[in-house]
Amino acid sequence: MKAYFSCVFVLLLLSCNSKEKVEKKVVITDGTKTYDVYQASEMSTLMKGMYAYNMQLKTDIEAGNEVSDEFPEEFLRIHSAQLSETKLRNETFQHFSGKFIDAQREVFIDSSLLSVKDRYNNSINMCLSCHKTECTGPIPKIQKLLIK
Ligand code: HEC
Repeated sequence: MKAYFSCVFVLLLLSCNSKEKVEKKVVITDGTKTYDVYQASEMSTLMKGMYAYNMQLKTDIEAGNEVSDEFPEEFLRIHSAQLSETKLRNETFQHFSGKFIDAQREVFIDSSLLSVKDRYNNSINMCLSCHKTECTGPIPKIQKLLIK
């Protein structure tokens, strides 16, 4: 029972708000049993990918490894990926997605003005700026990406 509760807690922390839990469920029936499977939106899958990519980037920067000079073009899907039904691609979203892409591109362009660490942290702060207005749930998780 204890394990069950902690799982539910983790799920709620990661999604934007608890309402989302109900909206994208797929019911799978194998004849004897019915399973409710949570289906992630395209945007949510992209976000998880961006999270994993930036976690790797953080590890590389902290280790002093050379960072690739190729911006991951898949990130541009932030402009088109389908969102969960409760989320809207409104003006705020468009504004922050543009700012985020600009900041993330900077990480891969060697600039003498700012260190790679500063450029990286700037891009993570743009993840956070959008999340503060659009989707507050994952903020504690995203903050772990910042390099101290
Ligand atoms: C322009 C706004 C915006 C930007 C920029 C943004 N996000 Fe998101 N993020 C969202 C929205 C909206 C969702 C919810 C998507 C959905 O439910 O369809 C989300 C969802 C997430 C989730 C939860 C995914 C899940 O379902 O478990 C994580 C984690 C996340 N974002 C991390 C990041 C990271 C890391 C960055 C930067 C590299 C980032 N986000 C940049 C708006 C943004």
